[in-house]
Amino acid sequence: MSFPWAKEYTPANGFTKFLDEKLPLPRLVYNAVGAGYPVPRNLSYFWNFGVLAGFFLVLQIVTGIILAMHYAANAQVAFATTEHIMRNVNWGWLMRYAHANGASFFFIVVYLHIFRGFYYSSYKAPREMIWLLGVTIFLLMMATAFMGYVLPWGQMSFWGAKVITGLFGAIPLVGEPIQIWLLGGYAPDNAALNRFFSLHFLLPFVIAGCVILHIWALHIPGSSNPTGVEIKSESDTLPFHPYYTVKDGFGLGVALILFMTMVFFLPNALGHPDNYIEANPLSTPAHIVPEWYFWPFYAILRAFTVDFLFIPAKLLGVIAMFGSILLWFILPWLDRSPVRSGHYRPLFRKFFWFGLIPAMIVLFICGGAPAEEPYVMLSQLATAYYFLHFLVILPIVGQIEKPEPLPYSITEAVLGSDKKAVLGENASPAV
Ligand code: HEM
Repeated sequence: MSFPWAKEYTPANGFTKFLDEKLPLPRLVYNAVGAGYPVPRNLSYFWNFGVLAGFFLVLQIVTGIILAMHYAANAQVAFATTEHIMRNVNWGWLMRYAHANGASFFFIVVYLHIFRGFYYSSYKAPREMIWLLGVTIFLLMMATAFMGYVLPWGQMSFWGAKVITGLFGAIPLVGEPIQIWLLGGYAPDNAALNRFFSLHFLLPFVIAGCVILHIWALHIPGSSNPTGVEIKSESDTLPFHPYYTVKDGFGLGVALILFMTMVFFLPNALGHPDNYIEANPLSTPAHIVPEWYFWPFYAILRAFTVDFLFIPAKLLGVIAMFGSILLWFILPWLDRSPVRSGHYRPLFRKFFWFGLIPAMIVLFICGGAPAEEPYVMLSQLATAYYFLHFLVILPIVGQIEKPEPLPYSITEAVLGSDKKAVLGENASPAV
């Protein structure tokens, strides 16, 4: 949103004046992430994760391009070229460890970004489009990460690809032809490896395109904030630069310290040791697990153990797994509470902290554990709660809950009083 008090860009010298007339890029940056973009003054560190996600996306693209220079997508040599990168290529080990751990960090910050959205209902009007684009980005991230994990052609790469593409086989009638079409054969081999490499290279750029749309959509209403109360006057805002460039810079510093600790001291902690064994179609690993960031959804997939009427259990699992993310697309219309922030929603808050979060933790643990008791039963309970939470509890809580009193404005929430905003010309009663 452009506010009347937003600072106007003024070119500092002849060159920027020339640029401003011909291609006003500096003006765009100034208005997008500079002093020309007024942002709520009360953003907490939970508002850092979008920028961090952007950083890890760029890191993945840069390290990925370098890895692609030395990698060969051929089932005969893929495993060997990966080892070649680790041992012979200058700094190859760093590029590979940064890329593998970068994927994990990308997911960590995006999960925090999404759960920030759940708690503060960032998906609500007028930010539905930002959210819808975010869910699309998340689906693309999952596809990209899945295909990337196949490339080193280790045991988990191969068997992970076999299990996941095998899911499509559960679709009645067309399932098997789809599976063969996806793989380019009956099992993962050269054809699959080649198309996965090609798509794994392409999709991050599609994600980058979606991120541009995401940020563009964000700039229409502007950021929400921990109170969920919209900006009413100038005193509610600060210019993005220097306030949030510094705050985001600090967050980035902390994230980099954690990231480098993993890359340099625990580079394989988040991976699976079986992926250091070359793919062998004749030897099934005892325990096939995807990467940790898929565990909650993998648990939902495996929670269905009996057929229901004419629907086989496997198909139910596939529908539930995809459905568990696809339902986020309708979240803005499921949660009808007029109040955004969880801070002012006592009942919602209870279900969030004592329902959704524990259910996600249980799903996470069960997804990484073997498909045996008590994990199967626990994942069934957590899956049931997960769907109940979004499809039943959220809509009902939105109707029956009595929210706590909201501050009049962001300034009041920060300073305890807001004379200026109450009297200000731009004051409006919007929540
Ligand atoms: C590559 C991945 C992503 C990038 C680079 C990214 C980037 C950003 C940035 C820079 C912001 C503004 C700062 C902030 O609020 O943290 C933002 C806001 C937002 N993002 Fe993302 N995002 C990504 C993924 C997602 C996903 C997966 C979702 C949801 C499923 C999502 C939903 C939102 C929402 C709702 C906002 C507005 C939040 C508010 O103002 O309260 N984003 N994003």
